[in-house]
Amino acid sequence: MPGLTAPSDYSQEPPRHPALLLNSKEPFNAEPHRSALVSSYVTPVDFFYKRNHGPVPVVDDIHKYSVSIRGLIEHPKELYMQDILKLPKYAIAATLQCAGNRRTAMSKTQKVRGVGWDIGAIGNAVWGGAKLADVLELIGIPKSSNKSPCGGRHVEFISIDRCKEENGGPYKSSIPLSHATNPEADVLLAYEMNGQTLNRDHGYPLRVIVPGVIGARSVKWLDSINIIAEECQGFFVQKDYKMFPPSVNWDNIDWSTRRPQMDFPVQSAICSLADVNNVKPGKISIKGYAVSGGGRGIERVDVSIDGGKTWVEASKSQKAGIPYISDDQSSDKWAWVLFEAEADVPETTEIVAKAVDIAGNVQPENVQVIWNLRGILNTSWHRVDVQISQSNL
Ligand code: MTE
Repeated sequence: MPGLTAPSDYSQEPPRHPALLLNSKEPFNAEPHRSALVSSYVTPVDFFYKRNHGPVPVVDDIHKYSVSIRGLIEHPKELYMQDILKLPKYAIAATLQCAGNRRTAMSKTQKVRGVGWDIGAIGNAVWGGAKLADVLELIGIPKSSNKSPCGGRHVEFISIDRCKEENGGPYKSSIPLSHATNPEADVLLAYEMNGQTLNRDHGYPLRVIVPGVIGARSVKWLDSINIIAEECQGFFVQKDYKMFPPSVNWDNIDWSTRRPQMDFPVQSAICSLADVNNVKPGKISIKGYAVSGGGRGIERVDVSIDGGKTWVEASKSQKAGIPYISDDQSSDKWAWVLFEAEADVPETTEIVAKAVDIAGNVQPENVQVIWNLRGILNTSWHRVDVQISQSNL
């Protein structure tokens, strides 16, 4: 691929902020400390989680870089950065969440396989770029199509990174053509993150952003777009990121029985407290994030200071000075809300948070009922222990 190369080892990795909590060095997987997540509505790039499956690609010559669009279309096309920059630019606030967020807690019930994330495999950014629906129009696929003129029904995104799961081949994934060509779905080919040029870890020079959908579909370091009849046959679509029932184990798993996960379910987590906290009796500030997939806003966040017996409603916010209304134009529909509640905690207890989205979907009470062997989509009530320290009495 001219302009963009994929190293075969980790000698050319970009610099990273030392405060990130490392989950694996090679490939680099790291998340911010909990408290960094609630310090601002827009997550600074340095503190945004990084999820890689191989060495980070290098751009040697941005002028030579192009994305080839091919497959079930009449006229294949090479799209250079200047062609993409000519299209209308959109800035979309969207929360990216790895399907494996909160996996470590799921593993405590029964072991699961995968990178051990705490609650920080999530971040909220303003992504700048062209809409995929506009790009596809350039190659003759009209907006809101569910079939290309030559019969394609899916849009495959192919990177150039070398992933061991793909036997050294590139990361790839796909979304339905109907999703890709829907201008309201806001699928982007993004070249900016929080108003700056994308950095290498997050997909420089160009990545896909599929708002409201698990992070795995937002392919970084885009090399080509393929219009195909069936969904992508790559590892990360067929043999990963699928949600199985608790009864399925590594001996009886049949990957073909489940669809690839797309939207993420309603989620929330408390970020101002650790799993176990020693505090003085008195007021505690309970702050966290809540988000749902598919553009469904957050209707409510409930907080309990008695392990879930009684609840109070937390306040929710996105942008300073603008009240958050779950289904209003003024709200960022693809983005998280930050929530806050203050409570008097007189005795040792468990503090819990759960969110409800505008469709009335609620987080499940226990992780056991959603346990799955790949440890994805842990959206169970988020619980932290608060111990009233005797020495402080
Ligand atoms: N794209 C490529 N090319 N390679 C990858 O390893 N990881 C995916 C997705 N896109 C990945 C990728 C996964 S699983 C997630 S959660 C997001 O990128 C993470 O994006 P981030 O590192 O910008 O936070």
